[in-house]
Amino acid sequence: MGEKIKVGLIYGSARKGRFCDKVAAWAAEEIAGSGEFSIDVIDPAVLLPQVLYEALSPQQQATLWQRMAAADAFVVVTPEYNHGYPAALKSLIDSVGAEWQAKPVAFVSYGGVSGGLRAVEQLRLVFAELHTVTIRDAVSFAGAWEQFDDAGRLREPGRAKRSMATMLARLRWWALALRDARGAMPYAPAA
Ligand SMILES: Cc1cc2nc3c(=O)[nH]c(=O)nc-3n(C[C@H](O)[C@H](O)[C@H](O)COP(=O)(O)O)c2cc1C
Repeated sequence: MGEKIKVGLIYGSARKGRFCDKVAAWAAEEIAGSGEFSIDVIDPAVLLPQVLYEALSPQQQATLWQRMAAADAFVVVTPEYNHGYPAALKSLIDSVGAEWQAKPVAFVSYGGVSGGLRAVEQLRLVFAELHTVTIRDAVSFAGAWEQFDDAGRLREPGRAKRSMATMLARLRWWALALRDARGAMPYAPAA
């Protein structure tokens, strides 16, 4: 097998006591378990408060840019807040520019009845502006807190694992195709 596909795993929540830790840990295990991806965890809670107030030091900003630039693909793990996505996630998204371009973005979402899908639909609009390709297939946890036990294990993992496998297969295809394309020619600048 060739070089692993580098995935930036982005936490959507920066809330104290967030459920995101459980969902993102499950996602990381699945992604790493496939054997085809390496993971860089990008967590707004670690970058906060700087990322919220756009006050990253030049060194912190450069490090974030480097990490984002190194990624071949992204998986965003997001909850739904008032039918949208968290402000901390938007702030993180906006603190990076060209590093997003011509790369695929996939979603793992969670929440109440909607499973975070309304947040994901809004994020697709945002990511279109950033010249990314969003992956149609996603993983979604409705009533997420009932689906995971206290240790962060899924009570009935079968369906989520199948959704994740489909999503990762699509993500892999786009990540490899776009990595090759970016290597062959620069992503076209606006005329
Ligand atoms: C400010 C706020 C707004 C919320 N709005 C929604 C919502 O619109 N739909 C939904 O399904 N869940 C909603 N929830 C419930 C969250 O999905 C749930 O609390 C989840 O655990 C939040 O993720 P986090 O703990 O990782 O921050 C909301 C939670 C918060 C804190």
